[in-house]
Amino acid sequence: MEENKIIVLDFGAQYGHLIARRVRQLHVFSEILEPTAPLEELKKAKGIILSGGPSSVYDKDAPAFNPEIFSLGKPILGLCYGHQLMAQQLGGKVEKGNVREFGTAELEIKNKEGLLADLGEKETVWMSHGDKVESLPQGFEVIGSTADCEAAAVADFSRNYFGLQFHPEVTHTPNGLKILENFVLGVCGCKQDWTIENYIEQKCEDVRKQVGKRNVFLLASGGVDSTVALALLDKALGAKRVYALHVDTGFMRKDESSAVEKALKDLGYNNFHVVNAEKEFFEAVKGLVEPEEKRKAIGEKFIEIQNRELRKLNMKPEDWLLGQGTIYPDTIETAGTKNAARIKTHHNRVDSIKNLIEAGLVVEPLDQLYKDEVRELGEQLGLPKEMVWRHPFPGPGLAIRCLCSDGKQDDLSAIDEKANVIAKEFGLEAKVLPVKSVGVQGDARTYAHPCALIGKANWETLEKASTRITNEIREINRVIWLLAPENIDSIELIATDLNASRIEVLREADAIAMNETQENGMMKEIWQFPTVMMPLHVNEKGESIVLRPVESLEAMTARFYPMKYEVLQKIVKKIMALESVSSIFYDVTHKPPATIEWE
Ligand code: XMP
Repeated sequence: MEENKIIVLDFGAQYGHLIARRVRQLHVFSEILEPTAPLEELKKAKGIILSGGPSSVYDKDAPAFNPEIFSLGKPILGLCYGHQLMAQQLGGKVEKGNVREFGTAELEIKNKEGLLADLGEKETVWMSHGDKVESLPQGFEVIGSTADCEAAAVADFSRNYFGLQFHPEVTHTPNGLKILENFVLGVCGCKQDWTIENYIEQKCEDVRKQVGKRNVFLLASGGVDSTVALALLDKALGAKRVYALHVDTGFMRKDESSAVEKALKDLGYNNFHVVNAEKEFFEAVKGLVEPEEKRKAIGEKFIEIQNRELRKLNMKPEDWLLGQGTIYPDTIETAGTKNAARIKTHHNRVDSIKNLIEAGLVVEPLDQLYKDEVRELGEQLGLPKEMVWRHPFPGPGLAIRCLCSDGKQDDLSAIDEKANVIAKEFGLEAKVLPVKSVGVQGDARTYAHPCALIGKANWETLEKASTRITNEIREINRVIWLLAPENIDSIELIATDLNASRIEVLREADAIAMNETQENGMMKEIWQFPTVMMPLHVNEKGESIVLRPVESLEAMTARFYPMKYEVLQKIVKKIMALESVSSIFYDVTHKPPATIEWE
């Protein structure tokens, strides 16, 4: 039966998820599915959007899709790759482009019926593509063109098929939301009935159906997502059938686990306990220096502990499903959808959890939601504002903010030279650092060196220098600015894994940064504020700290936060006073090309 919703088929675009987000902003439910989704699923939608993606329709390994999409008789909107795929499948021709068109372009509108209704004669649009549609399938006409792309907007009005070479879902296309609205409300005729209240009702029903007579055992970190998941599960099943476990991994923030215990109790949740597993977690990551290995070891350890605690409580495993507060971006970043590249393995997406998911043994009531929707839902469920507006904190905690190293060092002199040519233009000095961190470029994971900038500069200059360096030097995916000491005479990589004393220093540094954020009223404008530790001796001593506050909406993209210098000075002074900290830097990279966390 047809439901009032739009299905987005994800061909692997980094921003593909934004399409679904935008549709929900129009108060219409949208869902992201694999392009191979079965006909029965696709039939439920009022319309289908084919996302962009990094492939060319000519690629041998272009994403597989269900060709029956085009025999459904439903309205279809193809975007970028989706536009090219539709044209090719229906008998048109796609030209292999050798140059990429990237950035804004002027769309001249030729037909204002349907998709492009109520727009100006010309509209600014965002382009990012190599290939383009050269000849149209039968029944199609051009409804908008740019200087470099004749078939920038096309339509087959008889079948309600539309294709756009540009991206209406990004904010660089100022009237993009209007275009999506024309498709969703106008062409597909969707009603605007998607609200968080409706979602709560619907989800409670889904949860009851999935869980049946069984119960749910939830891993509750005390963060926004797992607490909202707990509240929702409680509402759906009743408090007695939901049991929460908080694991103190030893990688938590200062005093976090006791605060979580108190907060949950204050909220009236009594069906839970806290287990201290610090020793086990340190044991699990002993000797590991590679980020993905650390992440996997931690994720698996969570499951081992959960199983053990179930046994201890005499709960029969067959009576209990695992509950998790996984949200949509967690799935995307772990390549949970087939065509998204693996950027990082989130702790709630390691192999043994994937097996449980396949067996239908995991309940994730938030897995289709974005952070801001989760917060709205939390408020609706009556959770206190301070809880709902807490900064996100990753499951593996400080462990993925404390970089490790085997001590082996690449020869960085050639990259260093290149970085210095650019830095000099901004009156700065550059030093490429012998550690590595994770980034995301062109939809794929990078693992590359950060470049430190040394000298006096304002945020604007730093942003420009950072963008130039990461754009022009492939080996660098992150740029940081030296805050203290004033000069660096030597930098030396230390061979080290994770240990309790390093985490202790990082925990203190993090507490200082978070306190100042709170005291200076920056909690809301900063979306998240990781503090990171690098195993580097600077001037022959200590370790190095990096401050990484960011502004973001849904964590898929982020901008570094330009902090007031007075506040920054206070943080620097306090962190430099910590024993075994010898230097402190500020991350001045956006996402992309860097990610929010370093590992
Ligand atoms: P990145 O670093 O990929 O992070 O830009 C995006 C968001 O995801 C959070 N994050 C995690 N959350 N388990 C989580 O629950 C994880 O393993 C994990 N890794 C990253 C990160 O803090 C940011 O908000």
